[in-house]
Amino acid sequence: MKIVYLVGSLSSQSINRGLSKVLVDVAPEGTEMVEFPIGKLPLYNRDYDADYPQIARDFKAELESADGVLLITPEHNRMYSAAMANAIEWSSRPWGHWSLGGKPVAAIGASPSGIGTASAQQHLRSTLLFFGSKVMGQPEGYIDATKAGLTPEGAISDSSKEFLTGWMQAFVKFVEDNK
Ligand SMILES: Cc1cc2nc3c(=O)[nH]c(=O)nc-3n(C[C@H](O)[C@H](O)[C@H](O)COP(=O)(O)O)c2cc1C
Repeated sequence: MKIVYLVGSLSSQSINRGLSKVLVDVAPEGTEMVEFPIGKLPLYNRDYDADYPQIARDFKAELESADGVLLITPEHNRMYSAAMANAIEWSSRPWGHWSLGGKPVAAIGASPSGIGTASAQQHLRSTLLFFGSKVMGQPEGYIDATKAGLTPEGAISDSSKEFLTGWMQAFVKFVEDNK
């Protein structure tokens, strides 16, 4: 099974990058985890629709080749990040060519507080429903990076790692059931 994942933070010290490392580490055997680095995408505007740049064609092809897509998002002002929004815009154009349409997709994210990106993820799920993505509702993964001891390098507490192991198993099962 191929999972394409996006990390919605471009920071060199990103805790969501750290979270992605943990998720790759605990992914069930037989799961191919492939990141598309969304920082390579230019800022979308609709002038590109007439002639999509190669990097955006590659991005859409990678999403379309996936059995499932995992969106690892920070929370910025109670919203998902601008980098994630930009990637979603590229995925959604030209009009009607929704690369996330019908795909099994899950959101997860980390912030340094108890909210754990809950608000950002809820916005993300709402956007995904517009494309007809199959959105995983449960289990939710709201990671309090401070409590979990999550670092940009991917260190994390044993109990959080255990939780994320179960979360990844549930996601892979969701993809299997919905692909
Ligand atoms: C512009 C901006 C807005 C933020 N807004 C929120 C927020 O709404 N909720 C939250 O929990 N943290 C918020 N934070 C703090 C981030 O959760 C924190 O910077 C986190 O480390 C971002 O993830 P990253 O390390 O993967 O970049 C915000 C940070 C920035 C830079």
